[in-house]
Amino acid sequence: MVICVPTPLSDDGTPDLAAVLSAARSVGRNLSQESLVVLESTTYPGTTDDVVRPILEEESGLTAGVDFSLAYSPERIDPGNEEFGLRNTPKVVGGLTAECGEKACAFYREIVDVVVPTSGLREAELAKLLENTYRHVNIALMNEMAIFCHEMEIDLWSAIDAARTKPFGFQAFYPGPGVGGHCIPIDPNYLSWVVRSLGFRFRFVELAQEVSERMPAYVAKRIQDALNRAGRPVNGSSILLVGVSYKADISDQRETPARPLAQQLSSMGGEVSYLDPHVNSFVVQSQEVPRVDMADVDLSSFEIVVVLQPHRAVMESGVLDSAPRILDTSGTLSGDRVERL
Ligand SMILES: NC(=O)c1ccc[n+]([C@@H]2O[C@H](COP(=O)([O-])OP(=O)(O)OC[C@H]3O[C@@H](n4cnc5c(N)ncnc54)[C@H](O)[C@@H]3O)[C@@H](O)[C@H]2O)c1
Repeated sequence: MVICVPTPLSDDGTPDLAAVLSAARSVGRNLSQESLVVLESTTYPGTTDDVVRPILEEESGLTAGVDFSLAYSPERIDPGNEEFGLRNTPKVVGGLTAECGEKACAFYREIVDVVVPTSGLREAELAKLLENTYRHVNIALMNEMAIFCHEMEIDLWSAIDAARTKPFGFQAFYPGPGVGGHCIPIDPNYLSWVVRSLGFRFRFVELAQEVSERMPAYVAKRIQDALNRAGRPVNGSSILLVGVSYKADISDQRETPARPLAQQLSSMGGEVSYLDPHVNSFVVQSQEVPRVDMADVDLSSFEIVVVLQPHRAVMESGVLDSAPRILDTSGTLSGDRVERL
């Protein structure tokens, strides 16, 4: 049995394991000898052993590692990725005991090409948070650099393209309007929460969070500056947000930076609309944001068009050709009418 339920944050920013607890109870009630239970939800190291195992044992009356097998294997799905799916993405697997690990590896070998055993449960749990924290910190690094590169009139995307030609020791990350989704802005907090319980602070995560959370406000400032140069205030200007999901080519709006940005622009009196072929409804502060359909639109009436997520369907359609002024937070466009983040 595989448990892969959401692991969000509570209102106070601490891990909310409610779904894991209730799923573990249901699984525990249905356990039998020889069962294999794998937790896949992203969570802090220790969850499988300290939280899930006691529930399974209590509900079933069985003993993990003796009567049934218990393992952890992080979900690594990248929505919208056409190259890597479940089968060809290596699967990290850690067991409570060596036997539990072997049983879980055998299970995953039937559905994925490469299985990567770890020395234990906690190593597998940490591997997932290491991956997400690594992305979180490096994206924030690029976001922070984007701000001073603009002041210094440096095209950061061009610099990244140059740096990435180094065949070793560098991996390219890119700036953007802020981080969204249910992984990067959320999961590293699971790690910083558990680190705090040891009496430390995980400062890299906290800093990354702070830097990237400010990006929507920075983008709003850049829109304001661009309009100002054209002699127009934000108040009363029609502003089109292109791509309001949290990343390109998908519809998922969870934690999307488009929402705080739209909220801020509206509070400044901007008349905000959005264009996104993947999103049919975009609600900000209980208000439906007007949707612009891609089919037959002329963007010349918009004071400014802001590219947040460069959906291929939009970028390849030519729909942006009629926009008089574009702020591109994705580094995809260039030309006279285009200003990059
Ligand atoms: N989706 C991804 O791209 C992705 C990638 C990597 C890791 N993860 C991790 O995988 C886990 C699941 O994420 P997801 O995006 O698949 O979640 P999801 O919101 O799609 O939910 C997964 C399933 O859990 C069920 N569920 C929700 N609450 C429940 C509860 N209280 N009890 C029992 N079942 C419940 C839902 O009905 C759904 O079928 C999370 O920990 C997430 O961080 C997800």
